Amino acid sequence: MAAPIIVPASVEDWREKARRRLPRFFFDFIDGAANDEQTLHRNVADFAEVILRQRVLRDVSQITTATSLFGTSATFPLALAPVGMTGLFARRGEVLAKRAADEAGVPYTLSTMSICSMEEVARVSSVPFWFQLYMLRDRGIVREMLQRAWGLGVRTLVFTVDLAVTGKRRRDIRNGIAGGTSRWGRIRAVPLATLAAPVWACDVGLRGRPLTFGNIEAYVPGAADQAGIRAWGAQQMDSSVTWADIEWLRSIWGGTLVIKGVLDAGDARMAVDVGAQGIVVSNHGGRQLDGVASSISALPRTVEAVAGRAEILIDGGVRGGADLLRALALGASGAMIGRPYAFAVAGGGEAGVRSLLAAMHAELSAAMALCGVAGRASIDAACIEEFPRKWR
Ligand code: FNR
Repeated sequence: MAAPIIVPASVEDWREKARRRLPRFFFDFIDGAANDEQTLHRNVADFAEVILRQRVLRDVSQITTATSLFGTSATFPLALAPVGMTGLFARRGEVLAKRAADEAGVPYTLSTMSICSMEEVARVSSVPFWFQLYMLRDRGIVREMLQRAWGLGVRTLVFTVDLAVTGKRRRDIRNGIAGGTSRWGRIRAVPLATLAAPVWACDVGLRGRPLTFGNIEAYVPGAADQAGIRAWGAQQMDSSVTWADIEWLRSIWGGTLVIKGVLDAGDARMAVDVGAQGIVVSNHGGRQLDGVASSISALPRTVEAVAGRAEILIDGGVRGGADLLRALALGASGAMIGRPYAFAVAGGGEAGVRSLLAAMHAELSAAMALCGVAGRASIDAACIEEFPRKWR
């Protein structure tokens, strides 16, 4: 039997705690990725290819990590990425994650596909969140959602562009929860797995209701259950979106526009040309096109292409404070995490996310000190010994 985890000390520990608590199909939904999951693994493994440079005998008694990300101040350069359906991993999971992010002093991004509505999340905190948008065929709904978000104080819009179609996630297919699964498939798969997870079934399945998609349920005619809303969502997904639509988005959104899901230097230049103030270098955590480059390997060429005209964040594979330092040293302003906090909220609720964020902050501070840099502004390429030449 595996040793008990007395104090979770790593993302892997939170993953294990989540695995023990969640129904198998939800754990796989978070943990899995597209096809053979090559890019998922590459995202994590490639961080180890960035060799940090240890420097000694510099005064590192006062480490300062404070920064600003897309104009939002942060105690350290990290933000929580949009993770759809977080409210199915823990009771009112989006609210828990937002509270923990506030406590840590880092931005939280609410997904279009959240369980808790933007209004519910806004009620628990006076600190505005970032809102993530998926483009829907019905532009009237998009406009209305953005008006709702603006009214709640949201000023940073994260527009996700790497989901023209949904990636083929084999674990979801196998577990009977992928889009297009037959009703019979769902009827067989879901209750059985739920019975094997009694703590979750009570905490979320019973006490965590309503379990619909809070941001969009108002627009779904006759929305009775989640399957119905998901089907509506699939039909609303707009694969015809192009760069021209971003101009429209700019015309209706007065705040900061961030484009998430850029992996190509040419696309990064286009994003800046159409007026995005920020970019998230991302492959959706390997959940979309399997076989593409890891996010960290795509960072150097993106930084070069953008040449300071927009702020760059990265996500995919960040699993500790040293990874954050690596991303910053390669030119990112900061990073986002998805699975790490999804596991922490599933395994330990709000306290779990708080603990994870505190550990990431502490690890970043330690890594800075041991690289001989005391302030965020001093982190640069000199913190790196080497990284693969082919990334340039
Ligand atoms: C995601 N991601 C995502 N992205 C987005 O723009 N909107 C969304 O609703 C979701 N939903 C979602 C659900 C789950 C379960 C996961 C794991 C991921 C992608 C997410 O924002 C981010 O890009 C990746 O999670 C980053 O990779 P890591 O940190 O998980 O390795």
